[in-house]
Amino acid sequence: MKPKTRLIHGGIVGDEATGAVSTPIYQVSTYKQEAVGKFKGYEYSRTGNPTRHALEELIADVEFGHAGFAFGSGMAAISSVMMMFSAGDHVVLTDDVYGGTYRVINKVLNRFGLEFTFVDTGNLAEVEAAVKENTKAIFIETPTNPLLKVTDIEAVAAFAKSKGLLTIVDNTFMTPYLQNPIALGADIVVHSATKYIGGHSDVVAGLVVVNSAELAEEVHFVQNSIGAILGPQDSWLLIRGLKTLGLRMEEANSNAQKIAEFLEGHDAVGKVIYPGLESHPGRELMQKQATGFGGMISFDVGSKEKAGELLAKLKYFTLAESLGAVESLISVPAQMTHASIPIERRGELGIVEGLVRISVGIEDVEDLIEDLENALK
Ligand SMILES: Cc1ncc(COP(=O)(O)O)c(C=O)c1O
Repeated sequence: MKPKTRLIHGGIVGDEATGAVSTPIYQVSTYKQEAVGKFKGYEYSRTGNPTRHALEELIADVEFGHAGFAFGSGMAAISSVMMMFSAGDHVVLTDDVYGGTYRVINKVLNRFGLEFTFVDTGNLAEVEAAVKENTKAIFIETPTNPLLKVTDIEAVAAFAKSKGLLTIVDNTFMTPYLQNPIALGADIVVHSATKYIGGHSDVVAGLVVVNSAELAEEVHFVQNSIGAILGPQDSWLLIRGLKTLGLRMEEANSNAQKIAEFLEGHDAVGKVIYPGLESHPGRELMQKQATGFGGMISFDVGSKEKAGELLAKLKYFTLAESLGAVESLISVPAQMTHASIPIERRGELGIVEGLVRISVGIEDVEDLIEDLENALK
């Protein structure tokens, strides 16, 4: 089955009970039992719900995993995966992970005795050097947010396997349509489904896919214990979002490539970071492990003030946190998504004050380029 077909025909299609073509929204918390413990697969919606289950089967299918799990947000998904570990366990992570991941690790999960080391996972030697006796997993984000640094998933997963460690990949930026970490050797994939999978700026959600029955049991145990589940309405919205993910990603890829090339040739713009540009050091690796370069571009306009001027003049790029929607969005990471990262650390990473990040939507690219051209004048 080809990727666009799998997004529509994967998982559970429709409803066995009624023949409904679209999975119904089972807005229900509990289920009638014929006798104590005798029920039709569902007993309580924190543990399992048919609409959520249909989404979980679909995401497992499109990520080539064993099982999927739907959470109330990407952060709930990431935190729940981390809660499979115990006090004294150590995890190695990509150094410029999403700000919220950095925050939950340094301000919440550290309270429970988990240990973390941040390295440039694009450099395998750094990953190898960071592994200690108590290391249990390597957590990768690729390409990263907002610097779009690329990590070789296959190489890290092979190294992790040789040491008996889990490989966890945040696949939010690439989506299951463009990159499948489990097929490259990873054990767990996480998504902020708030982004491309939902795709319409109308739902906050997270997804986890695991590659084995043992991991599925552990993630389900944590999810059911903590209760970080996604409701049936939002699960339905994600099923709907996934059906058009292929079309939306094709459009976002193509628009972003043209916009990145336009920005790279513009005098008012400094460095342009987009994995589809010849100038991007991770381009070849992206071609090896993904089927597109995605819709995210970061570029430097020189200062916080210039970034502010640009934002004020744009018509079609909405100033907002988040990404991956049909409408183009723009943000200034240092003041928004990455404000929770201390300023010194932002400096070390290269998240400068004038760095602007755009999430290219599926509008007509000629309008988007004209808008940027007028605002940059
Ligand atoms: C790469 C990445 N991972 C995780 C998250 C967190 O997801 P959520 O906002 O759905 O909790 C985000 C949010 O921006 C993200 O960009």
